[in-house]
Amino acid sequence: MSTSDRSLPVAVFDSGVGGLTVLHECLVSLPHEDFLYLGDTARFPYGDRTPAQLAEFARELAGILLERGAKLLVVACNSATSAALPELRSELEREIPVVGVVRPESRLAAAATRNGRVGLIATPATVKSGAYAEALAEEAPAAELHAVASAELAPLIQAGGEVDHRTLACVEGACRPLKRAQVDTVILGCTHYPLVRPVLQRELGRRVTIVSSGEAIAAEVEARLRASGVENDEHRRGEYRFLATGDPEQFRRAGTRFLQLPIGSVEHVEVAAAGPGRKAA
Ligand code: DGL
Repeated sequence: MSTSDRSLPVAVFDSGVGGLTVLHECLVSLPHEDFLYLGDTARFPYGDRTPAQLAEFARELAGILLERGAKLLVVACNSATSAALPELRSELEREIPVVGVVRPESRLAAAATRNGRVGLIATPATVKSGAYAEALAEEAPAAELHAVASAELAPLIQAGGEVDHRTLACVEGACRPLKRAQVDTVILGCTHYPLVRPVLQRELGRRVTIVSSGEAIAAEVEARLRASGVENDEHRRGEYRFLATGDPEQFRRAGTRFLQLPIGSVEHVEVAAAGPGRKAA
């Protein structure tokens, strides 16, 4: 299917519902575009998986979305972007533009920091990949990156429910080393984290600038669509649809908090099983 057709949607994927924080910004900034979102809830979380698994999952999800037709692909998952963006780009960019997270937040953090000490909270897979260290070094060569890996925070947020003592303890634990390092800017290196932004801001203090990917991604999507000449007429009203690899009803319920917009029907799609014992230690 041709990807240069402006009537096609922008495709977005994540390991679960976290990427809906990115989709939210895209829907607000680009209400005239159509979007197709795929959440790999059956294989969530991605945060402790190996780079090889993440690359395999990303390729499979991109294949499902491209098969249905898309004019641009957004990898709205930091773990997948960190492990597989260069590979996905080299495989797909002749066919379709591919936009990922990591670089936009690094650019924002480089512009925001005053003392050159930047914190990062992300999944173990993202921290281990070194993708943020590399991107920040390019954006602000003199800046120091202080990275904290949390395996628990994204699953706690995705599970829903109230922000309870477990979430608070997890946020406190993640912020402690960053406060000790006196960072003045913190990158939310996981698309789930904007949901606990107030808790993080309270813990870090109001002088710390928090950056996340949503708005920067929406701006990049707009620029790439324009550069490819496939942007839609601004006077039309766009639509958005959802696919989930896990239970559609669970996706709908969990997703509404992240999207802050109505989620209609969710279609189930099958993917290869994650397989036992395939997670990274
Ligand atoms: N949204 C994913 C990310 O940005 C969540 C993490 C996970 O699946 O563990 O990395």
